[in-house]
Amino acid sequence: MIKGFVFDLDGVITDTAKYHFQAWKEMAAKELNIVVTPELNEHLKGVSRMDSLDVILRAGGKEQDYTQEQKVALATEKNDLYKKLISHMTAADILPGINDFLTDLQQNDYPISVASASFNAPVIIERLGLSYILDKIVDPGTLHHGKPDPEIFEKAADLIGTPYAETVGLEDATAGIAGIKAAGMFAVGIGPKSKLPAADINFDQTGDISLTAIERAFDRIRH
Ligand code: BG6
Ligand code: MG
Repeated sequence: MIKGFVFDLDGVITDTAKYHFQAWKEMAAKELNIVVTPELNEHLKGVSRMDSLDVILRAGGKEQDYTQEQKVALATEKNDLYKKLISHMTAADILPGINDFLTDLQQNDYPISVASASFNAPVIIERLGLSYILDKIVDPGTLHHGKPDPEIFEKAADLIGTPYAETVGLEDATAGIAGIKAAGMFAVGIGPKSKLPAADINFDQTGDISLTAIERAFDRIRH
């Protein structure tokens, strides 16, 4: 039986990828003389802030050019730009279908938590008007490994006290689906099967998510 749900944030609850992209692009153009292309941006999704900077520096052939201290300053500059962009977010930025799905989960007494690599997740959740989830967000500062490691999903399930085998994880990234599966959880892919083949069930977009379809698929696979 399903006992609870663990959500990725970016690309599942809201689309902050465009803001991360804009902030990295601006900072990299100004400080590094590196162009962050949409293709390069694809490699930043779900990746931690410092690891994202390393990906960008490597793409520009500058991975040896900066000290750790300088890299922290660059990442901070990007984060300051990012914080300005997300300060305008409101409940209108919740992706289609998610509000209805969250209501469905509440009505069915399913606990939920958030497994996001972002240190900005609490601010975003608050701006989206979903403050009731605030105490159920994994602190990325406590993690030893990023996705695809299962750690963040296990910690998210621990926050709501659900056994991993009876927890459902929702993700839009390949590394996230891999982490959910490695935790022994049931994986819901937001994106087509062709993009997320390892998911247990796929919805092309958030507007297609159905609790009944997830419950049926879970029962079919687990029993
Ligand atoms: C992930 C995003 O959710 O969080 C990444 O997909 C981002 O793009 C990472 O780098 C860390 O976010 P933040 O807000 O702590 O810089
Ligand atoms: Mg995501």
